Amino acid sequence: MKRHLADEQATIAFAEAVYRALASDVAGWTLLLRGELGAGKSTFARAFIRAAGHQGTVPSPTYTLVEPYTLSTGLFYHIDLYRVSSEDELHYLGLDELDDGCCLIEWPERAPGIVARADLDLAFSYEVSGRTVCASGLSERGRALIQKIN
Ligand SMILES: Nc1ncnc2c1ncn2[C@@H]1O[C@H](COP(=O)(O)OP(=O)(O)OP(=O)(O)O)[C@@H](O)[C@H]1O
Ligand SMILES: [Mg+2]
Repeated sequence: MKRHLADEQATIAFAEAVYRALASDVAGWTLLLRGELGAGKSTFARAFIRAAGHQGTVPSPTYTLVEPYTLSTGLFYHIDLYRVSSEDELHYLGLDELDDGCCLIEWPERAPGIVARADLDLAFSYEVSGRTVCASGLSERGRALIQKIN
């Protein structure tokens, strides 16, 4: 599925639609947020976490790598692997233990192990105006979600 996102508000609305489509069963989802610097990955993550009920700021996990959110709707992890250079560092982060929640991962290319067990791939790219997102399902429920939001 490919969709043009004309402005920031369109990225936010897209994130809200994705959240609504998986809201009944958030546990164990892994969403890959791909795209170059400034493509809209954090904008998506912030809007998704707010759609899940979080009020207040959604700080960038660039330095902490993982920002957890315990909400009444479930557990969410906002992850940014930009600064990770080797998969060994991830051991230490315990990413394997985060499968109780819904993981939103920026720069997932840094961790091929995580990519292998993801449900949804969201690739953001620049257009002359705004952005485009290409969404694809990587698991059975990921593909079902794409059908649902299409
Ligand atoms: N559809 C859109 N059209 C135009 N601008 C957008 C769109 N979506 C988000 N933006 C803007 O792009 C800028 C960068 O967004 P964001 O921080 O989400 O990027 P990012 O992919 O997380 O970057 P990084 O790789 O540095 O973490 C923000 O100013 C945001 O408002
Ligand atoms: Mg970001």
